[in-house]
Amino acid sequence: MTESPFNAAEYAVGKHILVRAQGVKKTYQRGAEITHALKGIDLELFRGEYICVMGPSGSGKSTFFNMVGGLDSPTAGRVFIDEVDMAQLNAQELAFLRCRKIGYVFQSYNLNSVMTALENVTLPMTFAGMHADEARERGMKLLGMVGLGDRWNHRPKQMSGGQQQRTAIARALANAPSLLLCDEPTANLDFASGKEVHRILRELNEAGTTIICATHDHEMLAVSSRMVWISGGEIERIAVTRDVQIVKASLGDVDDSGATANVPQQTGASHA
Ligand SMILES: Nc1ncnc2c1ncn2[C@@H]1O[C@H](COP(=O)(O)OP(=O)(O)OP(=O)(O)O)[C@@H](O)[C@H]1O
Ligand SMILES: [Mg+2]
Repeated sequence: MTESPFNAAEYAVGKHILVRAQGVKKTYQRGAEITHALKGIDLELFRGEYICVMGPSGSGKSTFFNMVGGLDSPTAGRVFIDEVDMAQLNAQELAFLRCRKIGYVFQSYNLNSVMTALENVTLPMTFAGMHADEARERGMKLLGMVGLGDRWNHRPKQMSGGQQQRTAIARALANAPSLLLCDEPTANLDFASGKEVHRILRELNEAGTTIICATHDHEMLAVSSRMVWISGGEIERIAVTRDVQIVKASLGDVDDSGATANVPQQTGASHA
């Protein structure tokens, strides 16, 4: 099996860089224990892309997402969003960027348990200064878009996992972010709920939202524009999805993250 290398310069032609990670390193220290979670990540993410990030458990996917989303800062290196260096922003500017430009969807939904679906969705709008009536109207529209118009008054405990994740997606879209960060968004969902989340993310991407998603889910991989493999805190491989043949894993084919390994196989096709 031959593997054609990813030609970054050729791929970038005519594209607008939305995220630029440059030599991003992250080291965690707990007492004498030092973990080099990221060892120098260089990655450009273009507007309109749908990037899937894969890698075994502990390879640094969530750490990388935290850096890109401005939830944590790198030990070394830089992250630029729309060519703005996040490290140069003060706390208020960073909060503004996180609130307005980036939406977050996590594996464990991270909804506020005492708030209703609508309150969860409108909270970021309120933070952004939107009037309560307008926020409510937009919140209902977003919940309708993810198929939960009739569940607006439910609290997370009164919803299924899939419904909670769709609420989390609606919340992530509260302030119409240009970038959506999804960290294993279907990992806790059953097949049907996962499919619904795929559909929503695909439609959002088709409507212009840039998506970066940590996943091993073959349906997401199939609609992505590029796939990035991270291993031991480093980028191991990047491929344009159309050059990769995605095969469904057979039962029992489990990778070391514990997830079913939908192992993508390189076809050897050219990147032209
Ligand atoms: N806050 C932290 N303090 C110390 N070590 C951490 C911290 N967060 C992550 N790590 C370590 O950094 C490494 C990368 O973790 P990370 O959560 O990014 O992996 P991951 O690829 O997202 O894994 P998974 O697929 O299990 O979610 C791991 O070795 C982890 O133990
Ligand atoms: Mg993770």
